Amino acid sequence: MKNEMWSGRFEGFSSKLLEEFNASLNVDKDLFKEDIKGSLAHAQMLCECEILSKDEFKAIEKGLKEIQEEIENKNFIFDIRDEDIHMAIEKRLSALIGAEIGGKLHTARSRNDQVATDFKLFAKSSNLKIQSLLKELIKTILSLAKEHKTSIMPSFTHLQHAQVVSFSFYILAYGFMFLRDIKRLKASYDLANYSPLGACALAGTSYKTNRKLSATLLSFKEPMPNAMDAVSDRDFALDLLYDIAVIFTHTSRLCEELILFSSSEFSFISISDSFSTGSSIMPQKKNPDVCELIRGKTGRVYGNLISLLTTMKALPLAYNKDMQEDKEGLFDSVNTALASLEILNAMLKELKINKENMLKACQKGHLLATDLADYLVRKKQLPFRQAHFIVGKIVAKAEKEGIDICEIKNLKDYDENFDEEANSLLSFENSLNLKQSEGSSSIKSVEKQIELLENFLKSS
Ligand code: ARG
Repeated sequence: MKNEMWSGRFEGFSSKLLEEFNASLNVDKDLFKEDIKGSLAHAQMLCECEILSKDEFKAIEKGLKEIQEEIENKNFIFDIRDEDIHMAIEKRLSALIGAEIGGKLHTARSRNDQVATDFKLFAKSSNLKIQSLLKELIKTILSLAKEHKTSIMPSFTHLQHAQVVSFSFYILAYGFMFLRDIKRLKASYDLANYSPLGACALAGTSYKTNRKLSATLLSFKEPMPNAMDAVSDRDFALDLLYDIAVIFTHTSRLCEELILFSSSEFSFISISDSFSTGSSIMPQKKNPDVCELIRGKTGRVYGNLISLLTTMKALPLAYNKDMQEDKEGLFDSVNTALASLEILNAMLKELKINKENMLKACQKGHLLATDLADYLVRKKQLPFRQAHFIVGKIVAKAEKEGIDICEIKNLKDYDENFDEEANSLLSFENSLNLKQSEGSSSIKSVEKQIELLENFLKSS
């Protein structure tokens, strides 16, 4: 078929293979709202600059709104021969209001700045949606943290028992990861807040346009200062892909721990039936599929980032068709993030914490050993290395006796450096509250951390 858009230059017909290979309509039709919004702002700007008459602008506005309704009501016929959403809408506009006026919309614009604008608008609104889901997640973490300030559990390094902490302290660690994720998204949003619209093909235009106006109409802070950069830049997509990749690093770690902690080996937590699945053969099974899926989806989210980085690498300025490959991955990462954060939050709301099992687990692994060493440093002014050695000996002795050091009745019997008072160290609660440093696991510090997160939510 002959392509109407560039029929002036071409004598021959497009190959059917080319039409299909070249088209991005199946993917970028999801940008129809952004495209119409961008066109409305562009047309209004052209009108204010007297490049379009008021009547022409009114006709274009009416036509674009009609097209939006057609698409929303599924009455719009998508034809792959239109190549992409920008051409599909422009063609339909001319059919609706006549090519005489419809054909004027593309004055002082190119698809290069148009697509960059649409895609940026999508990235900005997706960024905000992800931020608000992360805020919901932090709220759920806060309510778990408030409820479990005294729910004692072992912490781990190398997945070996380390020290006593509370469930509250543990889950707050994730709260602060998600807080950083929100801050990272905000930084990306600010960087993306400059409008490419009006950059045209790459060099700007000979019309006296007002890019500041179209930027403001689209809620951008300002126009991008260099037209060539404006049409070549996909940093905003990379930034969002990276932000989502980091979010999934965090959710995959949380999900991994929920899987471990809900296994019969740990039994620290129980995932609600409504977020678990069964087995087709083993009647007893209750599987943490949601956590596994979120953990698994991390792979595709990382892949989408690497894929666009690779597409953009070494591309000559300005627009190259390679860049049409930018959308699928970002759409996928955004959808994956929205769905995963929503279900993770719902699942966490129904999470059951098995306090008794966590407490029982603290009785293994000599979790109090560091507290004993610290005591010797405090009371006897021993160098920490020497205290470490003494407590190491006590641990070795307890191991031989087949007990945990928390079961020792009188520490003095194990080493004469300890006195009567030292026996108060043999309590998990004391261990928790002995911590004095900022950000520690003590109840006082945990309360401060809760306050910090609450204030962040209030102010953002
Ligand atoms: N469908 C294209 C894309 O998504 C729109 C930009 C086309 N520009 C061009 N010069 N062919 O990248």
